[in-house]
Amino acid sequence: MILFDTHAHLNFGDFDADLDEMIGRARAAGVVNIVNAGYDLASSRRARELADRYDLIYIAVGIHPHVAGKALPGYLEQLEMLAAHPKVVALGEMGLDYFRDLSPRPVQRKVFREQIALAKKLNLPVIIHDREAHGDMMEILREDGPGLPGGVIHCFSGSWEMAKECIAMGFYISIAGPVTFSNASRLKDVAARVPLDRLLVETDAPYLAPAPNRGKRNEPAYVRYTAEEVAALKKMEPEKLAKICTENGRKLFRLP
Ligand code: NI
Repeated sequence: MILFDTHAHLNFGDFDADLDEMIGRARAAGVVNIVNAGYDLASSRRARELADRYDLIYIAVGIHPHVAGKALPGYLEQLEMLAAHPKVVALGEMGLDYFRDLSPRPVQRKVFREQIALAKKLNLPVIIHDREAHGDMMEILREDGPGLPGGVIHCFSGSWEMAKECIAMGFYISIAGPVTFSNASRLKDVAARVPLDRLLVETDAPYLAPAPNRGKRNEPAYVRYTAEEVAALKKMEPEKLAKICTENGRKLFRLP
């Protein structure tokens, strides 16, 4: 299989002990590209070191909604400086998280909107995190989304109605490990319906390991389990599905 893990966090401490081996397992599984997503300024900065070290790793820089409350004045200028690295292919992850509510919601919305504006200025696609914030998310995407050079709703968790509207606005839908869980009937339904030319797969490693590794540390090699499940839902050959998703990712992130 040829796979693209379009969302991982490899600069979290979870991988310090076996980074080389983990990248080796990813290559052996057929992973040809990984987008390592920033979480705050420090992780966005460290992501660049990984990208310099491994040819298959590209990066996104951004402020996650969990830490939006800690974004200091000047953070946009810092992001812009970080985005000048040649392997930065997107801004993110950014968005809204009303499940854990770690930052005040008005601040989450403000920092999200400011990053969308920066993405337009820099002509970069966006990687969007949305958890239990579907209403406000769609309102912001309707108002601020037009003019973006593309984007992806990562680890999609909404309804098919929401997916349909995101697709109509030009966004990709990225499916993560939970689609392999037996109780994920709504997500399975969404994955089965998303048009092939709008579909991506990801791990969100180290989180959300797909079955059969549910509960363990996730890593990019496991993206194949997600691709296999989505292929089964679409009644397709896994190799074909994986190749199409890889091409979609390379197109969205404009990889050479
Ligand atoms: Ni993430």
